[in-house]
Amino acid sequence: MPDAVQVRVPATTANLGPGFDTLGLALALYNEVELRVADQDSVEVRGEGQDCLPRDGSHLVLRSARLLAERAGRAVPGWQLVQSNAIPLARGLGSSSAAIVAGLFGADALLGTALPRSEILALAAEIEGHPDNVAPAIFGGLVVCCTDGGLSGLPLPAPDLQVVAAIPNFEVSTEAARKVMPATIPHADGVYNASHVALTVAALMTGEFVHLRVGMRDRLHQPYRAHLIPGFEATCAAALDAGAHGVALSGSGPTIAAFCTDHAPEVAAAMVTTLLEAGVEARTLILDTDREGAKVLGR
Ligand code: HSE
Repeated sequence: MPDAVQVRVPATTANLGPGFDTLGLALALYNEVELRVADQDSVEVRGEGQDCLPRDGSHLVLRSARLLAERAGRAVPGWQLVQSNAIPLARGLGSSSAAIVAGLFGADALLGTALPRSEILALAAEIEGHPDNVAPAIFGGLVVCCTDGGLSGLPLPAPDLQVVAAIPNFEVSTEAARKVMPATIPHADGVYNASHVALTVAALMTGEFVHLRVGMRDRLHQPYRAHLIPGFEATCAAALDAGAHGVALSGSGPTIAAFCTDHAPEVAAAMVTTLLEAGVEARTLILDTDREGAKVLGR
């Protein structure tokens, strides 16, 4: 059994507009963890979340590692975790999924359980409650998820796009943002979203990014969540006007993600200005897509 493992996990943007709980894309922004088996739990956090993340066994990386050990029938007295975080917390960029996947990959490598990625995906989605951030965090690239009996996660190549993430300076909890949606939607909205999610995947896979402008429109979750982010609609319009191919709420927000081949700096500036006009301070990151997913870097 290795003494310690280092794991790197990417940020993710989920939904991509119409693909609620279905589509996710990995981004080249990473959290790294070093995990050891120890006599008792200990946690050190650097970077994002260093002021607020728990320092005991309730930390999501350790809860996830513990679950994998329990399911594998292995007794582990405790875990020592050192975490370096670049993914902002509770902003819609998959920070909790990155923690879950880091814990599962770390425990799997430390304990030598060598679980297939499909089993790690099932465990990760069980902990997270939805699959569309954990799947691209595991596989990299674009992943299509479908829960029907079991969970299917189909990894596809990462599109050659840059993602401008406009990150407001406030948090939105996914749990709260899932409660604002209605229990049922009109049939016409179901048809609308089925056609838009298909167009989005087709545009991403063929490189015909011009279709993302329409393809990323959504009637399933964004209209119900827009009020949680002042200036949401105007910021989406500004990103498109400045040259983005498509734009969407990143996961449950508050980050807004714009998808570009050119003009990313202009898109970023337009999004920040428009959010500020609505009273929201935001920073931006211009990110490449990640093609590798979670990686054990060393033992
Ligand atoms: N599909 C999830 C949601 C993603 O929109 O609630 C959360 O990041």
